[in-house]
Amino acid sequence: MTVSSRTQVGIVGAGPAGLLLSHLLALRGIDSIVVENRSRAYCEARQRAGLLEAGTVELLRAVGLGGRMDAEGLEHGGIYLQFDGERHHLDFRDLTRGRWVTIYAQTEIVKDLIQARLAAGAMIEFEVSDTEVGELETGRPVLRYTDLAGTRHEVTCDAIAGCDGFHGICRDSMPPGLVTTAGRGYPYSWLGILATVPPSTDELIYARHEDGFALHTMRTPQVSRLYLQVPADEEIERWSDDRIWAELRHRLGVPGWDLKEGPITEKAISPMRSFVASPMRYRRLFLAGDAAHIVPPTGAKGLNMALADVTALATVLTSLLRDGQAGPADAYSDTCLKRVWRATHFSWWMTSMLHVDPHSDQFGAALQLAQLRYVISSRAAATTLAENYTGYFPLTWATLPTRGPGGGAGAGPGRAGRTARPRLRSRSAIAAR
Ligand code: FAD
Ligand code: PHB
Repeated sequence: MTVSSRTQVGIVGAGPAGLLLSHLLALRGIDSIVVENRSRAYCEARQRAGLLEAGTVELLRAVGLGGRMDAEGLEHGGIYLQFDGERHHLDFRDLTRGRWVTIYAQTEIVKDLIQARLAAGAMIEFEVSDTEVGELETGRPVLRYTDLAGTRHEVTCDAIAGCDGFHGICRDSMPPGLVTTAGRGYPYSWLGILATVPPSTDELIYARHEDGFALHTMRTPQVSRLYLQVPADEEIERWSDDRIWAELRHRLGVPGWDLKEGPITEKAISPMRSFVASPMRYRRLFLAGDAAHIVPPTGAKGLNMALADVTALATVLTSLLRDGQAGPADAYSDTCLKRVWRATHFSWWMTSMLHVDPHSDQFGAALQLAQLRYVISSRAAATTLAENYTGYFPLTWATLPTRGPGGGAGAGPGRAGRTARPRLRSRSAIAAR
């Protein structure tokens, strides 16, 4: 038996993109359903991003999702760049007229979003199977899935958002030949760990070492997150906890600084890839986030881009479904791809500058060092890094109308959140230019 129903927007994927889209649409009085093939517990525990651009933080505050982030997030005004055995500080606030970034884990954003959506009575179906999107040529696309109890559903939608990540089904559901892809693989991976130990640094350390890149980041004042460049086909079994700490000490070490060690609670290897699919839309099927593009994690752009896409998409769908205007939908792909390609270039540049390429030679290594020396000695070069790292193009509230037929629903919590942090609000106003 198949159960038929309808909604305005069918959303595939309960990652940060799908969940935020559902939230933003609700603020404008637009109904949606989110279907997700993993369990809620899995979605809330999946270790991934940790660093939010200033504009992403402002957006989450503005739409009523800033409470726990403001209480628990760690605001950083710069990073350290380390090479040739020396550590150098880049001061983003000075370089960018006040911009900053915040450490707040993707796991926590997902928890906040799921909680907010369920509290608002939203429909999120976890652990679905056999998701399909069809009837895409019509103005009424259909989302099909089987729920946990085994019942098949067919939901007629006004639009479908493919927020189903890199391995999802939506991108491949577009007509053959429509989508062009461009990308790069990298000949190395990241081994990432979570460790129960206070961070040994106040701000992130990006280290280029002749034996490979290392990054010291963090999650909370009690939990550190660290990454090591490893060969592309590396197996995690080859890395005991002792070996990981020894390599981190070796690559991150500078005289007079110690790396604090603690129990490793999680370790995994992630491949590195740049990938962009275009267009990000076919008729009433829209792609957002990792479903359309991925970047290597150096520079922390993936989550921020995913949230920027759905901010744009919420506005586009509001125009289309509430106001009957198709223009913004027609512009959606081009609008997003400008930001995507900027972030794709930045992530590629940071990655290429900081990692040891096994196929490169002395010439390549000398170019990397020349570029790093330029970044720490030229204000123009440092500003380029800082401006991109903190978010370019800055995401502003101007891209997010705050009133819909449901009216103040969106404005209320946002206003409360902003009032609580007047110091940061004025920074953002400067940064928004
Ligand atoms: P996803 O988070 O992948 O969510 C897609 C969802 O769709 C998933 O829950 C999936 O289960 C579901 N799904 C897939 N197929 C189906 C289907 N057929 N039916 C139903 N549901 C489906 N980004 C940053 O900005 N900052 C960082 O610091 C950062 N660090 C990173 C570190 C690592 C090690 C990695 C791997 C990534 C990092 N990223 C970072 C990238 C960031 O995590 C991703 O860009 C982000 O998760 C994208 O969100 P999304 O919602 O588009 O996709
Ligand atoms: C993280 O905190 O996981 C992180 C931070 C910065 C990066 C990549 C990952 O560039």
